[in-house]
Amino acid sequence: MTRRKKIYEGKAKILYEGPEPGTLIQYFKDDTTAFNGQKRAALEGKGVLNNRISEYVMTRLNTIGVQNHFIKRLNLREQLIKEVEIIPLQVICRNIAAGSMSVRFGLPEGQALPRSIIEFCLKDDKLGDPMVAEEHITAFNWASPQEIDDIMATTLRVNDFLCGLFSGVGITLVDFKLEFGRVWENDFSRIILADEISPDSCRLWDSVTNEKLDRDRFRRDLGNVIESYTEVARRLGIMSEMPTVIQGGKGA
Ligand code: CDP
Repeated sequence: MTRRKKIYEGKAKILYEGPEPGTLIQYFKDDTTAFNGQKRAALEGKGVLNNRISEYVMTRLNTIGVQNHFIKRLNLREQLIKEVEIIPLQVICRNIAAGSMSVRFGLPEGQALPRSIIEFCLKDDKLGDPMVAEEHITAFNWASPQEIDDIMATTLRVNDFLCGLFSGVGITLVDFKLEFGRVWENDFSRIILADEISPDSCRLWDSVTNEKLDRDRFRRDLGNVIESYTEVARRLGIMSEMPTVIQGGKGA
């Protein structure tokens, strides 16, 4: 028996060495965190749901030409992904004021923004993921001006696509976070979408009732976290492929 090599362990996922060079295995944990890891819990079945939801969204994005790291789902909790050189930024796109933006600008939660707004935060837990400007990104060489342009154009495309995908199933996409990475081909690099897209990284509200169907249920102690993630998967039409334990609402 050989033990596979752990490359990185984050708050909600683990990355293992992949079967071939240039690949990794992304393992989705049940661990859920909020407020930069200060609040934690394990929610049974969350990793399985996020693995499947992220697979579905990344696959759909691939069909419209948004290149991303997803290769294939391996099992309930793991997916094969392309290894990328991660860009140390969280790219947040907002359609409606909520969360930290509401706090920062005193905007009521739920107020539609005049247009979609993209913000950048430095991926650094110790510093609390501070917001940064393009000036910082280029000065500290986190990304080049061309890469920032590519990231912003891709983020707006993802936003348009996801707004349509979710509104078709009665869900409003309030905001979401993306991460990007570089892949190298000889001396040239390009940027692709990485990480995950799931109710952990998006704010998703029921279009009729505004009920929250995302990680805010955990952050704000609203209860029914797994039930809400399951509802997102159900509306996306992917629950039939889930194990019966999850379909029954008991987690896995
Ligand atoms: O989540 P919080 O209110 O602290 O931060 P936010 O800046 O309002 O988050 C905007 C969006 O990015 C939400 O959909 C969050 O779930 C997501 N986000 C994330 O996935 N991971 C983070 N570390 C921070 C935000």
